[in-house]
Amino acid sequence: MPDLEPGKMPCHLAIIMDGNGRWAQQRMLNRIIGHQRGAETVQMVVDQAVILGIKYLTLFAFSSENWSRPRREVQALMLLLKKYIRNELKKMLKKNIRFNVIGNRADLPSEVNQILEDALDKTAGNSGMVLTLALSYGGRQEIARAASKIAQKVQAGELLPEQINEDIFASYLDTSGLPDPDLLIRTSGEMRISNFLLWQLAYTELYFTDINWPDLTINSLHEALWDYQARERRFGKTSAQIIQRS
Ligand code: FPP
Repeated sequence: MPDLEPGKMPCHLAIIMDGNGRWAQQRMLNRIIGHQRGAETVQMVVDQAVILGIKYLTLFAFSSENWSRPRREVQALMLLLKKYIRNELKKMLKKNIRFNVIGNRADLPSEVNQILEDALDKTAGNSGMVLTLALSYGGRQEIARAASKIAQKVQAGELLPEQINEDIFASYLDTSGLPDPDLLIRTSGEMRISNFLLWQLAYTELYFTDINWPDLTINSLHEALWDYQARERRFGKTSAQIIQRS
């Protein structure tokens, strides 16, 4: 595999971390063990993203639909999340990482929210990579929430309907202030977006790998980035227009 070009890294990498359950089931283990191993992959990917100079990393950690999983699995995921933030806060501070959360935080248990709040507060002044966890997140819900906030502004006379454009709309999304992802990776062989960043993925390059999340290695992550770097992004323009500009 050729070397990665530092100048062609995705500015924003988003990941659907899938396949923890299947990884465990294939080994006759409890699904929760798969999530535990998945949390170790999260650490590796965060470390790599910092080393590679990726400025924004967004991880789909818990979807709004995941609440309907068995209660024990939901509890285990919340516990893992608390443990992860507690353990990684020191690293975030040391590596200048700014922690961020998107999704419906009101759904999360209060002790999870307290830990998140603490990490958000303590890393707020950091200027390095922005690590965003999508928690209790659903793209359609996010868009509906934005529409509702905009409607309230219009009703209050603070915004005119004709002022609403793509930029204004995006500023009411949870991801306000983040650039759109350049690359989305989904592990485990599923080829779906699964309600993740529906608005923001409009021009994102998609990369799917059969590898289950706990099995993702530094090499397989680099392979995805290498594949991305070999692509031509046209944003609706022609190939000739893109070559002319570069
Ligand atoms: C998908 O695998 C993964 C999840 C629903 C949760 C992702 C959680 C982690 C990677 C670990 C904890 C996260 C952090 C940030 C510490 P799945 O259970 O849907 O797998 P399956 O499709 O094979 O059943």
